[in-house]
Amino acid sequence: MSNYQIREFRENDLEPVIDINRKCLPENYAPWFFMEHYNQYPKTFLVAEYEGVVVGYIMCRVEYGFSNHKLGICRKGHIISIAVLPEYRRKGIGESLLKEAMKALHIYQASEVYLEVRVSNKPAINLYKKLGFSVVRVLKAYYMDGEDAYCMSRSL
Ligand SMILES: CC(C)(COP(=O)(O)OP(=O)(O)OC[C@H]1O[C@@H](n2cnc3c(N)ncnc32)[C@H](O)[C@@H]1OP(=O)(O)O)[C@@H](O)C(=O)NCCC(=O)NCCS
Repeated sequence: MSNYQIREFRENDLEPVIDINRKCLPENYAPWFFMEHYNQYPKTFLVAEYEGVVVGYIMCRVEYGFSNHKLGICRKGHIISIAVLPEYRRKGIGESLLKEAMKALHIYQASEVYLEVRVSNKPAINLYKKLGFSVVRVLKAYYMDGEDAYCMSRSL
């Protein structure tokens, strides 16, 4: 049995989520940005709690635009941010967060899901490939420091 649970974000998770975001990623956001995603898409903003401590999160939104997988437009889930504290990695938490978020995206009628990831971020790229994402395009100099991103996507 695993020692962690995945559950929906609550307002008092904001502080630990911001802390995890700052420790794990160079892309940091203001508190209002997290709260806006929570207010608009509460079912897809999830946290991982390990023995009562918030150790990871995933935050998404839903957009309407050109499909990455078929002709025409559709509703797409967009993974905005996912992170797990270093000492809790390789326990399946990132995978569980992503799987649960993909289930929740159905609630918002999304038919596919996509994200951006640094081309050097092997752990994250492996996670996304494991869950069926593939690279659909390269976004040149997508990040502030000039690194390229892969746009990775899959159908839901
Ligand atoms: C990416 C991240 C969320 C993965 O979280 P995690 O809880 O360690 O991932 P899991 O334990 O669920 O691993 C699932 C799969 O991801 C891949 N993976 C995870 N960490 C890996 C690593 N260090 N090296 C290679 N593959 C890795 C593997 O395919 C793994 O499956 P396996 O255990 O069967 O081999 C975590 O490394 C992290 O927070 N990184 C910093 C933030 C970040 O880069 N976020 C993504 C931005 S796009």
